[in-house]
Amino acid sequence: MRGIILAGGTATRLFPLTATTSKQLLPIYDRQMIFYPLNVLVKAGIKDILIIIAPEHSGHFLNLLGSIFDKNDIRLEFKVQKIPRGLADAFLIGENFIDGDNVTMILGDNIFEDDFSEAIKNFKSGGQVFAVKVPDPERSGVVQFDDKMKAVKIVEKPKEWLSDYIIPGLYIYDSRVVDVARQVKPSARGEIEITDLHNWYLERGELTVGLIKGKWLDAGTFDSLLEAGQYVKEKKLYEKFDPIINQAILEFNQELKNLAKKKL
Ligand code: TTP
Repeated sequence: MRGIILAGGTATRLFPLTATTSKQLLPIYDRQMIFYPLNVLVKAGIKDILIIIAPEHSGHFLNLLGSIFDKNDIRLEFKVQKIPRGLADAFLIGENFIDGDNVTMILGDNIFEDDFSEAIKNFKSGGQVFAVKVPDPERSGVVQFDDKMKAVKIVEKPKEWLSDYIIPGLYIYDSRVVDVARQVKPSARGEIEITDLHNWYLERGELTVGLIKGKWLDAGTFDSLLEAGQYVKEKKLYEKFDPIINQAILEFNQELKNLAKKKL
């Protein structure tokens, strides 16, 4: 299993904060947002992780993450997405990295309270996504279930109400996803939509849609960014991080402090 974090984009809803840095490097309480998706992958035992970033912020990502896992066997790779072409683009950019393996892709601005380690470790083939109930489903990819909670339909930003369940930014696929993404035509908004990938697997009876436990936040607006920070602090979610990440952050912070002292 390989992991991809999609951490590019334009983050227009967070202007002007994102005029100077990437959304995924903004703080969620005591650490940069990117550590949250990174934690989901590391907790699940994934060792090979590709981080896809926007060109204007690539230096910032390298400064933070370029040597953070030097002392253990987690390998980070970086690739630049020149234009935000849509979520499914992650599998095209990541084609060589995926190299025929299964892949878990997670959005760089998604904060999950749930632990997906078992689902990721037990994944064999097909596709596995998750659903969560939200008050404003029309802004996302919406999934409709039958009375046995089996997914029957997935529609991107439906004009008419379909269900209150949306599919947040965590997707597990087998390696066929690369070819499927290649076939997808851009939508009216010019993006290659992840919903088309879900539907390819759904039509073949190969998509599992689980339900998320606990809180899910996409920290893409001022309010959700603030809410995420407050929630994380209140629930001490940073204490539930994989020890590898907490240790790496601790050492990195110590190194920064030592360097700062030397400069005085
Ligand atoms: P969005 O929140 O949909 O887009 P955005 O981050 O550009 O923000 P805004 O809508 O405010 O302009 O993206 C969800 C996540 O996916 C986020 O972490 C950025 C990432 N992303 C990419 O890296 N490349 C892309 O082509 C797109 C569409 C999103």
